Amino acid sequence: MIDFHAHILPGIDDGSRDPEETGDLLREEAEQGVDIVISTPHFYADHTSPDRFLEKRERAYRKTEEKRQEMISRGLAVPAVKKAAEVYYFPGMGRADRLCDLTVEGTDILMVEMPFCQWDRDIYENIREITERQRLKVVLVHLERYYRLQKKKQTWEEILGLPVVVQLNTGSFLSWGEKRICKKILGYGLPVILGSDCHNMRSRKPNLRQGRAAFAGMMGPDAPDRAERTAAELLEERKLT
Ligand SMILES: [Fe+2]
Repeated sequence: MIDFHAHILPGIDDGSRDPEETGDLLREEAEQGVDIVISTPHFYADHTSPDRFLEKRERAYRKTEEKRQEMISRGLAVPAVKKAAEVYYFPGMGRADRLCDLTVEGTDILMVEMPFCQWDRDIYENIREITERQRLKVVLVHLERYYRLQKKKQTWEEILGLPVVVQLNTGSFLSWGEKRICKKILGYGLPVILGSDCHNMRSRKPNLRQGRAAFAGMMGPDAPDRAERTAAELLEERKLT
């Protein structure tokens, strides 16, 4: 199973604090049945540069690999970890020249965290440019979080008319209000992938197994496997940019 959204790298954002916590998160992911974790530390263009971010991520990734090897040497099952980023939307993003360095390792997939506001034409144009000019595959992360903010749904509809992939947080299937929104989003028939968006072992734990079960209860027993296939196919696409 693939967890497509996880703040599992240590000491880089508001997720895992240190390699110990990363180890705990990895063990929990393995217990949940996850064998690939896409690590998605936050990237904010107004706080850091791509080079600084990539350097910091590399350090955090190396610590994660050390922890993984130590766990493997103790005979524990540990998921593989791929490098990625949760890139927060910024004006002019559609023409930013380093986006291809922030994609999921080995792919053209860009995980975009949309702005928490009413979306407008400018936002649509930027997302369109990322898909059409930059030829990146945009994954809209935890799309359910934005639904209520779109009082006017025109831009929302237009963005969902682009060739985007929707990532839903598994925790959202576990709460009644969020679940209703997820169902509405699933009604668009777009490709959907799942992620836990785990941050720690306290309030935001890995929860893919529980989330998948709730997803199956809502959308039918085959729904989680369909999302899994979509995720696996995305990872298999070759990087072209
Ligand atoms: Fe996140």
